[in-house]
Formats: sequence, C-alpha cells, structure tokens
Amino acid sequence: MTKQQMLNNLKRECENCYACEIGKKRTNLVFGAGNPDTVSVVLIGEAPGEQEDLQGKPFVGKAGQFLDEYLQKAGIDRNKDLFIINTLKCRPFVIKNSEKGIKSNRPPKKEEKLACETFMLKQIEIINPKLIILCGNNALKSLCGSKYTITKVHGTLANLEYKGRKAIAIYHPSYLISYVHSEEKNKEFLEDLKYIKSLIK
Ligand code: URA
Repeated sequence: MTKQQMLNNLKRECENCYACEIGKKRTNLVFGAGNPDTVSVVLIGEAPGEQEDLQGKPFVGKAGQFLDEYLQKAGIDRNKDLFIINTLKCRPFVIKNSEKGIKSNRPPKKEEKLACETFMLKQIEIINPKLIILCGNNALKSLCGSKYTITKVHGTLANLEYKGRKAIAIYHPSYLISYVHSEEKNKEFLEDLKYIKSLIK
C-alpha cells in the first residue's frame, strides 16, 4: 500500500470520528494536504479556522496567506516540499453572536487534543518525514512536551525530536499577525524558514 492509500484509510476513520463536540459541528474535516509519497517534511499547525473549516484544507485563511508569503520568501514550495497537518482536524470555535450565527476561533481544549492526537501521530508514522516543523506552541507542546516554549526554542534543531525524527519549531503565523505585530519577530520567522530551507534542499 502506498502512503497515500494508508492516509486515505486513516482519513475515512477520521471522518467517522465524533469523539468531541467540534467533530459534530464541523463543516469539513481538515485532514491535511500534500503528497505523502514525495515529501520529507511535515508541518504541524494548531487547528483549522473559519476558511479551513469551509474549504476542508489547512492554512488557507489569513494565517495561511502569511505563511505562504514567508515560505515563498524562504524558497520553500508549500505544495512540493511540505505535507501540512494540524493537531486538531476540526475547527474549535465559540458562538460570538447566536442571532447572526457569528463564530470565533478559540484555542483547542485538552480533551479535544487528546481525542485527536492519535490521528496526528498516525499521520506522522505513515508519512515518516525526515523533519517535522512545529508551527506554534500548541504543536510544539503536543509533540515534544510542555517544558518547551516557542520563544526559547524556535529556529534551532538543538534538542527537539519525535521518535528519532528531527523537529524544529517556528512561530505560529496567527501569533505574528494578530498579537505581536513586530517586524523583528517577522524577520526571525523568515530566518527560521530560511534555515529550514537549508536543511531540506
Ligand atoms: N492555523 C492553523 O494552525 N492551522 C490552520 O490550518 C489554519 C490556521
């Protein structure tokens, strides 16, 4: 069986998962995107947002556009070089205005992360990447443990790994565009991506 066939089977399992409340409320499952038979790098984000839930694809909203811009600047081809997944496959949200049906993203809950973890770990086992990019604190802590913090470990291969596979953490684009608004941090983000490019070429 090819990696793609194994992932297709896993996706079917995932589509039948309603273990937590967001599974029952999703518009689309966001399983992941990329060619598992050719890539050697998996990028793990946090969770789908509004656009991802609507389109069923990872990183296609504002954060995704920012990520795409910086990947391009660093010379990384999202479609050719990466398989992109999230720690959660469904959008975590709260209802902001029930009359207008306005939803707002929220961070994943512990029980949601636990319910979805096996899917993420199976995706990694199937794709078997040489390098894992952990995009943001949530992905970093989910895979490598809560003692790590993105501001301290981003951009270095020093001590992160998952079952013998190298891992490297980068800031989450949403953190850069919605919270810090710092040219300095954007520069660090680009430097980290350029370093990743040097590792995968
Ligand atoms: N943020 C994420 O972490 N993942 C997505 O797919 C979109 C936004």
